[in-house]
Amino acid sequence: MAILKLDGLVHGHYECRSLDETLPIFSDLLAAEVVDRRDGTAVVKHPNTGWLLVIHEGGPDAPTKPRGNHYGFRVADHKEIEAAWAYIHERQDDYGITGLKEPSASHFAYSIYLDEPGGNTLELEYYNPKAAGHGRRVAAGHWGEQLPAERFPGRGYVPQALSHGTLQTSDKEASNRFYTEVLGLSIVGGGHYSTYIAHADTPWYVVVLPAEERSYLAPVNRYTLKVASSEEVQEAHGTFSARGKELGVTEVWDLEARGKDDASFIFADMDRNWWEVTSAAWPLP
Ligand SMILES: [Fe+2]
Repeated sequence: MAILKLDGLVHGHYECRSLDETLPIFSDLLAAEVVDRRDGTAVVKHPNTGWLLVIHEGGPDAPTKPRGNHYGFRVADHKEIEAAWAYIHERQDDYGITGLKEPSASHFAYSIYLDEPGGNTLELEYYNPKAAGHGRRVAAGHWGEQLPAERFPGRGYVPQALSHGTLQTSDKEASNRFYTEVLGLSIVGGGHYSTYIAHADTPWYVVVLPAEERSYLAPVNRYTLKVASSEEVQEAHGTFSARGKELGVTEVWDLEARGKDDASFIFADMDRNWWEVTSAAWPLP
């Protein structure tokens, strides 16, 4: 039994420089929707994905983050990757996109990467669903019904889900134990090199990549874990504060309580990756 009784991996938090520059990448090129926006923070959601991406405007000095900390969207057909590359290549200057990589294949995936003007790498991938038959759970189940082409017309490709985020670790065995025994996440894939972690009930996942030389992220870039009640948040805060060293928690921020059912706190793991535990249903107060 893990320390957290986890309801879900519910949000990713992501820093950009300017919302006005970054949000069109999500809405125009990745079929995501801006579902909330207040005071320099926007909530972005893909129609097929329950995971929310909370995008924070950090201003022009927000750092460029490593490619090993990207988010990825998925298309349903291999051919759409080339169509997406062509469509985005033609418009990259309009969107301030740099570093658009030509389609490349790895294992069961075929993908393009781009750097958006907010300092983040984004990926669009095709993942052969047959890989699910080879024990790769991450290959399947990211959408119930495909978005029809009319929902995202004129581009030649339709992003069908926000499939994954990424993290880096310098100690795979220790961090795997932490994700499962402390956070209550499940290992759903990976192998010698990477580990894929997810909540057992939802398809989106985080790819954990080994990295010797780390460029640490600011806490504004984090993943949010939901538990059932503010009491459970307080309990976790107490446990992490008292036994952090033993558990692999290296920093614990103050508990924030905003009413009866809404409490949260931010913490760092042994790799100085940032996480948040919350009981709130929505990421913005
Ligand atoms: Fe990826």
